[in-house]
Amino acid sequence: MASYDVIVIGSGPGGYVCAIRCAQLGLKTACVEGRDTLGGTCLNVGCIPSKALLHATEMLHESEHNFAKMGLNVGKLKIDWDQMLSYKKDTIDANTKGVAFLFKKNKVDWLKGWGSIPEAGQVKVGDDVHEAKHIVIATGSEAASLPGVEVDEKVVVTSTGALELPRIPKKMVVIGAGVIGLELGSVYNRLGTDVTVVEFLDVVTPGADGEVQKTFQRLLKRQGLNFIMGAAVQKVETTKTKAKVSYQLRKDESEHVIDADCVLVATGRRPFTNGLGLDGLGLALTDRGQVKTDGHWRTNIDGVWAIGDAIDGPMLAHKAEDEGMAVAESIAGQAGHVNYGVIPGVIYTHPEVSSVGETEEQLKEAGRDYKVGKFSFMGNGRAKANFAGDGFVKILADKATDRILGAHIIGPMAGDLIHEICVAMEFGAAAEDLARTCHAHPTYSEAVREAALACGDGPIHS
Ligand code: FAD
Ligand code: NAI
Repeated sequence: MASYDVIVIGSGPGGYVCAIRCAQLGLKTACVEGRDTLGGTCLNVGCIPSKALLHATEMLHESEHNFAKMGLNVGKLKIDWDQMLSYKKDTIDANTKGVAFLFKKNKVDWLKGWGSIPEAGQVKVGDDVHEAKHIVIATGSEAASLPGVEVDEKVVVTSTGALELPRIPKKMVVIGAGVIGLELGSVYNRLGTDVTVVEFLDVVTPGADGEVQKTFQRLLKRQGLNFIMGAAVQKVETTKTKAKVSYQLRKDESEHVIDADCVLVATGRRPFTNGLGLDGLGLALTDRGQVKTDGHWRTNIDGVWAIGDAIDGPMLAHKAEDEGMAVAESIAGQAGHVNYGVIPGVIYTHPEVSSVGETEEQLKEAGRDYKVGKFSFMGNGRAKANFAGDGFVKILADKATDRILGAHIIGPMAGDLIHEICVAMEFGAAAEDLARTCHAHPTYSEAVREAALACGDGPIHS
């Protein structure tokens, strides 16, 4: 039996960041992980592999659509799917090994195996029971199931199976037009698969800014994705290699069937706490199965904390990381803090979509007096040169004080551009502060400045 100041259960972005920060703050720390490699969902079957496939297929898309216009005649590229999967695997390995290296460097012990909490102050891994003054639950999430749909990870897959398909399917049905559905749907659409997205609601990416939703769906349709909106999937029947997806249209309750050789179920994720022994411990869960925490990531059991996808809030790697750091700092007697009002969200499609803060719909509902500054990438010189004029930057600011309340970007490098607005919001900046900041020319970020100018006297280039 070993004794630690902190044992973190789970090595995803929440857990591994928490463990490293604890060690950096002088706490004797271990991290329990049941997978063969560190890094959690994000590094093994989430953010990193999906971005590798998005990158490779975006290159393919560029070559097919824009190369010849620039005088680059490469002919039709040949897809080597096995090589693409092996590039994806190398990317995962480089990242998971990186975490193992950081554990060694920071003297975090990796306790290999599945952990449980027999009682407060103890973590059991295999037959070993370790003592810990503090335990952090960072066990993440798993794909949610859908009634009438049985996942076999061959014909009917979650994102995990979709990242590992043995061959590129001819026809894919994606259930759910959320982040996973549209990112992985884009990957296969670019690879030549006939992709149809079936979504329960009438809009894609629920919760996003309404204007962004409309533009996003229009651009994806133009790329060849098919959408069936307002449709509730009722069941999926399979043979060894084929599937039949039955759905009902909500507007007239008509019933339909669509064939596919692969079905991706992307209807959300749920917290994963199986095997932790939480019942015996008396640890409180919410009615959605999340570990219940107070505003400081403490559970109802003294010395047991929880972070990341296992608790409430957006299921995002950087949200989990920030909570991991904050808990480490709290355990070390510092003031851990996460500003939930300034957590960016990014969808890594082409174009990218990003957002931070309030949407226009939320401001309207709250009865806030706001103004909108919008600028199209069509007016941005760099975007024009790079065939990336689709989309816009939209900044929402308080009408009276000009303080930035939210921003929504669809366009080139949207996932990077959002961060200057995040920093501005952290500092309580006004749109005018952004507008008065010199932005290098020619960059995409000039579109952000122009949107900020549009909150005031108006942009220059539109
Ligand atoms: P996880 O990353 O889920 O890690 C939890 C770890 O705990 C796992 O490794 C698990 O094996 C381990 N574990 C669980 N129980 C035990 C136990 N009892 N004992 C030992 N180990 C245990 N987010 C983004 O911000 N950007 C993206 O681009 C993005 N892309 C994604 C793409 C896909 C396909 C998916 C599925 C998710 C994506 N996400 C993305 C979401 C992101 O992966 C999660 O929000 C993030 O991984 C949550 O981190 P976490 O540390 O809470 O948990
Ligand atoms: P999601 O919550 O983003 O989207 C699920 C979609 O499925 C919704 O549009 C919902 O209306 C729809 N749906 C639900 N039931 C349905 C039914 N029966 N029939 C048809 N449609 C139905 O969930 P998703 O895409 O599975 O992603 C899970 C989590 O992973 C998200 O919370 C996201 O934050 C995270 N993630 C983040 C990424 C990023 O940051 N780029 C990338 C991938 C995942």
